[in-house]
Amino acid sequence: MALLQLHHVQRVFNQHSTNPVMALKDISFTVENGEFVAIMGESGAGKSTLLNIIATLDQATGGQAVLNGQDLGQLSKDEAAKYRREHLGFVFQHFNLLDSLSNRDNIYLPLVLAKTPVKLMDDRLTPLAARLRIDSIVDRFPSEVSGGQQQRIAIARALITNPDLLLADEPTGALDSNTSNEILTLFDDVNQNGQTIIMVTHSAAAASHAKRTLFIKDGRIYHELYRGDLSAKEYQEQINQTMMTLTNGGE
Ligand SMILES: Nc1ncnc2c1ncn2[C@@H]1O[C@H](COP(=O)(O)OP(=O)(O)O)[C@@H](O)[C@H]1O
Ligand SMILES: [Mg+2]
Repeated sequence: MALLQLHHVQRVFNQHSTNPVMALKDISFTVENGEFVAIMGESGAGKSTLLNIIATLDQATGGQAVLNGQDLGQLSKDEAAKYRREHLGFVFQHFNLLDSLSNRDNIYLPLVLAKTPVKLMDDRLTPLAARLRIDSIVDRFPSEVSGGQQQRIAIARALITNPDLLLADEPTGALDSNTSNEILTLFDDVNQNGQTIIMVTHSAAAASHAKRTLFIKDGRIYHELYRGDLSAKEYQEQINQTMMTLTNGGE
């Protein structure tokens, strides 16, 4: 069974006003377990709206989003909050770490909310910290480490609950290109370890790390590219060309 299925998802904002905004018109796609999917599109195309629906932070006004057999539109607010904690991990452009907590306590936060014993949290962190290369910085505070290191801490926080799905909205948007590459290589590793990832990005270089890229335009899927046997460079070139066609393609 597919991990995520979107069936004709629609999202209209201000539906009953004189000025409704059709952010998503008709979006259908499937994500299998273990995939790494990038979502691209111009500003205002509906990328964040789509991610928010998958994240249970927003609900579709039409169609269906089904994650692991659960129809996300059927969850109450409280159920959605629980579902998010237990099944989803999030990585944001601006890291969203709490400055008053150590890096370790930031990472433990979702487990603390789930009342996990300290020993178990420590046991989970040990292999993750090695994989993310953050051992030496977990007992510092976010303000004491670099942006790239803060994003690694945020990735650890997202992964410590073993989520079904890792959602990232512009995870390299605030990083320089070298640090972005490090973080994207880390996403590659995390995906190779079996973690499913959906990443929204403006950057063709970032999207070229995904095995598949979905392009959104005017609330619909405009095109889809698979990396297949292409080199990262060739794939990035195709992504760039598709973005140019999408941008210049008129209405
Ligand atoms: N809460 C909201 N109320 C009204 N319009 C919204 C709201 N959120 C997003 N929109 C509109 O929906 C469209 C898609 O926005 P968004 O998903 O943020 O695009 P992207 O992330 O691709 O830049 C835009 O026209 C935006 O103005
Ligand atoms: Mg956005």
